Order: sequence, then structure tokens, then C-alpha cells
Amino acid sequence: MLTSDKNEQTAPEKTNPENSKPMLFPVSPKLAAEAMVDDEKYRQMYQQSIVNPQGFWREHGQRIDWFTPFTKVKNVSFDDHHVDIKWFKDGTTNVSHNCLDRHLETKGDQVAIYWEGDEPGEQREITYRELHEEVSRFANALKSQGVRQGDVVAIYMPMVIEAAVAMLACTRIGAIHSIVFAGFSPEALAGRIIDSNAKIVITADEGVRGGRTTALKANVDEALTHPDIRTIEKVIVYRRTGADIPWHNHRDVWWHELQQLSSPHCQAREMGAEDPLFILYTSGSTGKPKGVLHTTGGYLVYASMTHEYLFDYRDGEVFWCNADVGWITGHTYVVYGPLCNGATIVMHEGVPNYPSVNRVSQIVDKYNVNILYIAPTAIRALMAHDKQAVEGTSRKSLRLLGTVGEPINPQAWHWYHQTVGEGRCPIVDTWWQTETGAAMITPLPGATALKPGSATRPFFGVMPALVDNMGNIIDGPGEGNLVILDSWPGQARTVYGDHERFVQTYFTSFKGMYTTGDGARRDEDGYYWITGRVDDVINVSGHRMGTAEIESAMVAHHQVAEAAVVGYPHDIKGQGIYVYVTLNSGVDYSFDLAADLKKWVRQEIGPIATPDIIQNAPGLPKTRSGKIMRRILRKIAAGECDSLGDTSTLADPSVVDQLIADRVEVS
Ligand code: PRX
Repeated sequence: MLTSDKNEQTAPEKTNPENSKPMLFPVSPKLAAEAMVDDEKYRQMYQQSIVNPQGFWREHGQRIDWFTPFTKVKNVSFDDHHVDIKWFKDGTTNVSHNCLDRHLETKGDQVAIYWEGDEPGEQREITYRELHEEVSRFANALKSQGVRQGDVVAIYMPMVIEAAVAMLACTRIGAIHSIVFAGFSPEALAGRIIDSNAKIVITADEGVRGGRTTALKANVDEALTHPDIRTIEKVIVYRRTGADIPWHNHRDVWWHELQQLSSPHCQAREMGAEDPLFILYTSGSTGKPKGVLHTTGGYLVYASMTHEYLFDYRDGEVFWCNADVGWITGHTYVVYGPLCNGATIVMHEGVPNYPSVNRVSQIVDKYNVNILYIAPTAIRALMAHDKQAVEGTSRKSLRLLGTVGEPINPQAWHWYHQTVGEGRCPIVDTWWQTETGAAMITPLPGATALKPGSATRPFFGVMPALVDNMGNIIDGPGEGNLVILDSWPGQARTVYGDHERFVQTYFTSFKGMYTTGDGARRDEDGYYWITGRVDDVINVSGHRMGTAEIESAMVAHHQVAEAAVVGYPHDIKGQGIYVYVTLNSGVDYSFDLAADLKKWVRQEIGPIATPDIIQNAPGLPKTRSGKIMRRILRKIAAGECDSLGDTSTLADPSVVDQLIADRVEVS
């Protein structure tokens, strides 16, 4: 729920734009005329989608191929006694059919994926026909390894074409994939395998990123030593680098050997619209990461529709979303949305600034990318090098830019607009979440005048609202908890294996509404400005981290008694991770120990969770009932020690002075 100190987590230019009226970038008349949707059409379609959702989605549900047409459109209850979300429920379809087979006649020889390796010069491309064949073979391979409809397949892969092949092959036979980001540790992978009861793991010998390799297969081996993993039958290994890897004959199988043996013909299985499509784990404010479950028909309709409309995607264009398939953005806008629309995509194995800071711009030129979709954290990292980031490149193919994952501060927005896009490409700042499946609040390029830092207006069928902490709806301009009042087809249906947790997390804070966990402001034009999370979730480089998760990793260390984690403003990452640690009695704090603790968290969760700052905290600010007052810890971490607010309710207010005295200066 909204707390009084929520603004600490957000870039000031964006949350407090009242001081100076934000600049407005109107749609150019040329783009308004060419684009699928101009402002008038947006308003008319939006209105229709809200007034008559059944009719609107009956029409737009037709954008994918159905084996059996649906007659039911929307059957939804947000009542917390009975949360039930179903779309197109009597229709049948198949995701890989929609992403592959249906394009073969007209686009068989069109490139589906341009793959760019970590090192410049390493490249591959694959047409729709070839991708269809690879996917069909691998679908048969999965069957040969015992995978059946409804089984869960864990995918722990680097950004190679085979990651997309694995995903699509699962969908072809009705298996449910659960991708675990390849940057996660063996421990984190094990937790996700246990929770999902996965039957198979698909991995690679090694991953390659930014000139470094990650021992993925060794990580899988380590994860599988976990005593609670009992379901894994096979590990399929794609050979990426050819490194020597440990091998277990009874369990491990080479990808290429399976592919050679498998037939290239595999009928796409007829799936119910509400059959599970994938699980993706995401962090919340409490407990372990949740396995968010998306289903087949509604997700695909919504993913492909948003891809087409919000990027104003035109046939033949090259689309590049540089997210990793380990995150929802990679699912929806690297693989399912664009491929369902028959787009040509770029898939990049590496990171935006390796081996040089103009790598992104070089890739844009190399493949004549028309639409580039990247996270603010990458934009800020490139912005630090200003003109060098575009040196020697023209980027003349670019028509449109996009951003996702965290608030974009206006300074980064302007740099992206001017330096990368040379002032000619609109920027779509898209707000959404793992749970929403695809974009929810976003400009449409031909329709929406842009304000840097605002995600602007809702997509069709999306009913955002702001509520106060009592759940009262705030009308007109104002600020509050961002909720969504009714369902949309791409919405997550449940938490895998724990529907009660789904209900508790998203539907109990405010009755009858979906709680996003974000705060937002709405201005006089009805534009939304996301102000950041209002719960104990932090957003580090566009990755969502539960502070509770990092805390529990910390306290698992034998020298740690207690830990409290908060976010603090970070120039590049958006938020950095600041840890207050209370050591066991008798243990002395030292820099070596702090380094050791950072390493520990890296090992427990993965590099993305590595604390930026560790502060020795012999005492933490607690209420008399023992609750840690994070508000105070956030203020101290942010260096706002003179605006701590009321500390009189603390059990021991003197703790605060000590914390301030020991504060670690953040650079
Ligand atoms: O806080 C919001 C932030 O990212 C959260 C969702 O994280 P995740 O599920 O990992 O999905 C990220 C990619 C869709 C949101 O609750 N967020 C996402 N997009 C934006 C954003 N914050 C501000 N502006 C955005 N455009």
C-alpha cells in the first residue's frame, strides 16, 4: 500500500514534475496519418473496449488462428472469495502454430531471427521455415524424452536461438515452460525446479555474456544435488561453447544428438485457450518468488495485439527487444508477440556495452533495425558515454524507440530521443508487469503526444484507477495506489500451485480490483506517471527483487543475526541494494566480511542480487512490536537523514543516531 515515503524510490524529475511543466512531444502529422491508430481512433477504440469488452475482444480475439472458434469471450470474477479469470475459454488453438505454421505460406523464407553473438562477427539467421523445422524436431525430441502435455519443462538457457526453439517446442506439445534466468544461481534454480515439479531441464554447456562465460551445465548439476528435487528425469544440453563439462550418462542428453534423431514433422497439439502456457517466477514483497502462470489463448491475443499496436509494427520491419528470455519482456516481446505477428526479430546474446559502448548502435545499423526496445538502465549506462555510444553509426533505419521495466528519468528520455533517435523517433514508455503479460499503460506512436517520464494512457481494454489506502477511487488528477478495475486477456491466471497466494497478493488489498503494487500519479490530461513500488519490492536495473528474498539469503550466512534491505537511488541501476546487517554476537565487522557477504548473496541468488552497500548495524530501528521501520532505513540509505519523520514510536530511538553515524556514503 501507498506509504508516505514512496517517492524516495523514484527519480525526482519524474515524480515531481509539477515544479516545471513537462515538455510535450506531439505526434507528427505524418506519423498520425501513416500509423494504425491516430488519436481519434485510439479514443474511439478505447471507449469501445471499455463499454463493450465482450464485443471488442470477440473481434480482436480473431487475430490469432483458432482450431475451434471460441464462443465465450470473458468470464471473470475479481471477487476475493472466488477469483476466476477466463478468456475465450471454449476456443482451442496452439501457440507454436500461430508463431510458425501460419506464416509458412507467405513468409517461409523471411528471416524470423537474426542472432547476434556476444562477440561481433558471431552471427546466425533462421527463416520461418527453418525455425518451424527446428521447433518441430525439438518438440519430437521432448516427446522422446518422456515429456507430455501438462508437464513442466525448466529452461535455463543463454540468449541463443535454441532458447526460443525450446519455448516454442514446449508450446507445440502442450508442455508448460518455466524459464529461469541464466544469471540465477544453482540455489535459485533449485528452488524454482522444486516449486514447479519440472520434469526436464534444458540448458547449455556455457552461456556467454559480456566476454565472460557462465558454467550453466555445472550450475544445473549443482542445483540437482538438492535433496528436495525428485522430479527431474533428463537434462538436455545445447552445445554453445564446446567447453568440457561434467556428464551423467543416465540423465544428460545432447541437444544436437536429439535433433539429428528427431523427425521434422510434428503436428501442433490442439490446446484449450485456458491451458497453461508458461510459469515465470517473480519476486514479491514477502516469501519466496511466485510462479506466475499464464495461459494460452488470451496471452497470445494480448501479446501479439500489443506488439502490433504499441510499436505500430509494419510487415517487413526489423524489431529488436534486447531483453533476456528469462524475463517476461523476453517472453512477450522477443518471442511470442513478434513471432505471432510474423515479424523479423533481432536476438542479442550479449550486453549493450560489450565489447564497445556503441554496440547497440552498431547492431541497429547491421540489421537495419526499425524498432528498438530497451530498458532505462541500459539507456543510462550508455548515456554515461554520451556521443561515444553512437560513434560511427547512422541509426537511420530507426523509426521508433521503446522502454520498459522501470521509470525513465526525463534526462535519460531526452538523451535516448536526441542522441540515439536523432529527435525523429517517438519513444513508447511501456508500463507493465510479469503478471500483466504485456503492456498496459503505454503511448501509441501515432496517437499519443509524449511527456518524457510518463507511460501516458491505458491500452485498449485496460481500466487503470488510483485508490487511496482505504480503496476509495481518486477521480481526476491525483496520486495513489495503481489498481486495475477489470480483467484483460493477457492477465496471469494464478500462482502455480497456490491460488490462495494469488488471491492474497493481488485481490485482497482493494476489494474487486487487481492491485499492481505500484504507485502512480495522474495529471490533468489523464496521463499516468508511475512513481515506483509501494511495497517492499525494489527495482534494480529493471529487475524486480524482493527485499525479503535478499534478507533471507543474508540471514542464512552463519555470521549474520539479522538483515534489513532497502533500495536507494542509483544513477545507472535506478535503485541500488543497501543492506543493514546485524552480526552474531562476538563477530566483528570488517571489510573482508562485507565482501564475503556480498559474495554469499551472489551465490545464493545470483549476481543481480549482489548488495551495493553493506552497513554494519548493531541495532535496527524497530517498533515496540518488533517491526522494522524501513521508512527510516530508506531515508538513511538515501542520505536524507534530516527528514526521518517521527521516530518516537521506536522501541529504542537511539539506534537511529548510531545508524546515521555509521552510514556508508553512496557514490
Ligand atoms: O514497478 C513497475 C516497474 O516494473 C515492475 C514490474 O516488474 P516485472 O514484473 O519484472 O516486469 C518488468 C517488465 C514488464 C512494475 O510493477 N515498471 C515496469 N515498467 C515500467 C515500470 N515502472 C515505470 N515505468 C515503466 N514503464
